[in-house]
Amino acid sequence: YPLKHPREQDWSFAGPFGHYDKGQLQRGLKVYTEVCSACHSMSLVPFRMLGELGYSEAQVKAFAANYDVQDGPDSAGEMFTRKAIPSDYFPSPYANDQAAAAANNGAAPPDFSLIAKARGITRGFPQFVFDIFTQYQEGGPDYIYSLLTGYEEPPAGFQVPEGAHYNPYFNAAAAFAMPKPLADDQVTYDDGTPQTVDQYSKDVSAFLMWAAEPHLEERKSTGFMVIVFLLIFSGLIFLTKRSVYANKE
Ligand code: HEM
Repeated sequence: YPLKHPREQDWSFAGPFGHYDKGQLQRGLKVYTEVCSACHSMSLVPFRMLGELGYSEAQVKAFAANYDVQDGPDSAGEMFTRKAIPSDYFPSPYANDQAAAAANNGAAPPDFSLIAKARGITRGFPQFVFDIFTQYQEGGPDYIYSLLTGYEEPPAGFQVPEGAHYNPYFNAAAAFAMPKPLADDQVTYDDGTPQTVDQYSKDVSAFLMWAAEPHLEERKSTGFMVIVFLLIFSGLIFLTKRSVYANKE
C-alpha cells in the first residue's frame, strides 16, 4: 500500500528562535480535552503545568476539578475517588491497558505525554541519520497533523480489516484502529480561529509538542547563548594562540 510521508507544516516553534504560540496551545488543549481525552491518557503531564499556557492559578484549579482521580488508601484502608487538584496528572480514561485495548478493537490508544517525540520521524533525512542523531524536531507534529487530516478512501483492492480505518500516514500500516476523531465545527473556539479539521489538527499537534517538550524555548535560547559564547571564546583562544606563538626567537 502507498504509505505517505508526513506533510511538513510551518510551526511557530521551528528553527533556532522558535517559540510556542500560547493561543494555539490553549486551543490545542481544548481539542485534547473535548475530543482526544475520551481515549488517550496524558499521564506524565500534571495539571499545574497548564499555568505555563497563560492560565491563572484559579483557572488551573477549576480545570483540574473537572476530573476525578483515584486516591488512598485512607485511614480505613480504602481507596477513594476525589476531585483532581493541580498537582495531579491527567487521568487515563480507562482502568488499565487491557480495558483500553478491549474498548478499541484490540489496539490500545497510546498515552499522549511523549507521543510528539515518539513519533518524530525523519522528515527528509535517511533513517540512519535519524537513528544516530535525533529526530527532527517537527517530525512528530507533522506526523500527527498528517494522520488527523489524512483519512481517505482506500485504493481499489486494499482490504481494510474489520473495525480499522484507512489512513496512508499511519506509521505501522495504513489500517488504523483509530476512527477519524475530528469534524468541522466540533470544538468551539472563542478567539475567532476557523473551526476546521485542518485547524484543530494543527492546534492539537502543537499542543502535543508542548506536552512532550515544555522547555523547548529555554533549550533553544540556552543553545543560542552557548553558540555565542563559543564564538567569542574561539576568538579569544585564537588571539591567545597568536600571542603565545608570536615570533619571539
Ligand atoms: C492512536 C492521535 C482521538 C483511538 C493514535 C496515535 C495518535 C493519535 C498520534 C498514534 C498513531 C501511531 O501509533 O503512530 C489522536 C488525536 C486525537 C485522537 C490527536 C484527538 C483529536 C482518539 C479517539 C479515539 C482514539 C477519540 C477513540 C475513539 C485511538 C486508537 C489508537 C490511536 C485505538 C491506536 C491505533 C492503532 O494502533 O492502530 N491517536 N487520537 N483516538 N487512537 Fe487516537
